[in-house]
Amino acid sequence: MTQSGYFTGFTCVKCGTFASPDRDLLLCPKCDGLLDAQYDYALLARKLDRAQLSRRANDVWRWQELLPVLDPSRIVTLGEGGSPLLQCNQIGETLGLKNLWVKSDATASPTGSLKDRSITICATKALEFGYKVLSCDSTGNKASSTAAYAARAGLKSVVFCPYETPLPKVAQAIFFGARLIRVKGHYSEINAMYRKLIHSGRVKWYDCGTDNPFRYEGKKTYAYEIAQAFNWSVPDWILQPAAGGMSIVKTWKGFQEMKKMGWIDRLPKMVAVQATECAPIVAAWEKGLNNVPGIGKGPTIASAIAVSNPGPLGDWTLQSIVASGGAAVGVSDDEILTATKTLAREGLFVEPSGAVTISALPHLLKSGRLDPRERVVCILTGSGFKDFERILEMVTIPEQGIQGYEEMLAAAESIA
Ligand SMILES: Cc1ncc(COP(=O)(O)O)c(C=O)c1O
Repeated sequence: MTQSGYFTGFTCVKCGTFASPDRDLLLCPKCDGLLDAQYDYALLARKLDRAQLSRRANDVWRWQELLPVLDPSRIVTLGEGGSPLLQCNQIGETLGLKNLWVKSDATASPTGSLKDRSITICATKALEFGYKVLSCDSTGNKASSTAAYAARAGLKSVVFCPYETPLPKVAQAIFFGARLIRVKGHYSEINAMYRKLIHSGRVKWYDCGTDNPFRYEGKKTYAYEIAQAFNWSVPDWILQPAAGGMSIVKTWKGFQEMKKMGWIDRLPKMVAVQATECAPIVAAWEKGLNNVPGIGKGPTIASAIAVSNPGPLGDWTLQSIVASGGAAVGVSDDEILTATKTLAREGLFVEPSGAVTISALPHLLKSGRLDPRERVVCILTGSGFKDFERILEMVTIPEQGIQGYEEMLAAAESIA
């Protein structure tokens, strides 16, 4: 079975070259620019019934006609996507926000992070194209996701991570059967070397990294899920953590697609949030630049999003933010830790990198950009279990234990 002509191919973001939908491509064959998947929106608008789609399983593949897959019979899924959208009145009240929501991939993804939304597409395409091995470079979450979906698809996996990657992410990837290679150096250096390796043709692995244009599309489902959850009304603001910013680019694209198809009548403002210690997109946005120069990288607790040189993807992210009338916000490590603890008070267990959107809210309020009455959605992207050493640093575990009922009673009465 094939999808009937919805996904029509790719165009290059840089030179406009068109590539047909059946091609196994990473970058533009002409100029090495990033590729953007194209669809027949007139056909989609005619054929897709939103109410009917809503009756499908609540996962990424609910939106399969809007994804670049030609053979849906080979979909590799672990039930990713469909994460909860929760109103956060306690945090909202503390900040003076009346309409604050979080969408938590952190607490509802098969491997504990947003990466599952996009790696499900890669594993599916790898089967379509006949690969035997999935590979990626990663700050950790993409590696564990790649390993899990490779296992699910019956494929092997090879992942390259910075040496300092949090151990839970590394262990998770190995546990799923990945061959993990720890690389010394900054992630952006590792990314450049890994991409060189993939484009050298010396290995025949299916790349689930930053050049894969099929993978990007999985992130669009954020937009569809949010619009649907609000009964096709669009929030005023969407805040997302940004490494290269792929989630922002594609969430923005998802909203634009829905507008084209007549599903929604307005667009949200998009906000990229980065740790100030490693914030090239924020620096470029604050200077009003059209592109994102690389910067030196300082140490930050938000290791998952510490990308000092996002390259053309960073430029695309910047353009998406600007086109939406949004912003880019840098937040300090202290602010990130506070946000992580604040989320715990709402029962949400989020790794520091995945919690940065909450730390950006006071900045947006202070600058006057955000009106306290507006509807805001903060995306949470990685589980607290993913960076567990950071969590351990934030709690004091009692050293002594009690024994027997009398001691339990005494302990209980000392609390009550
Ligand atoms: C926890 C977490 N949040 C957010 C991101 C940002 O991803 P991107 O900028 O590619 O959308 C990453 C990327 O590694 C991540 O691990």
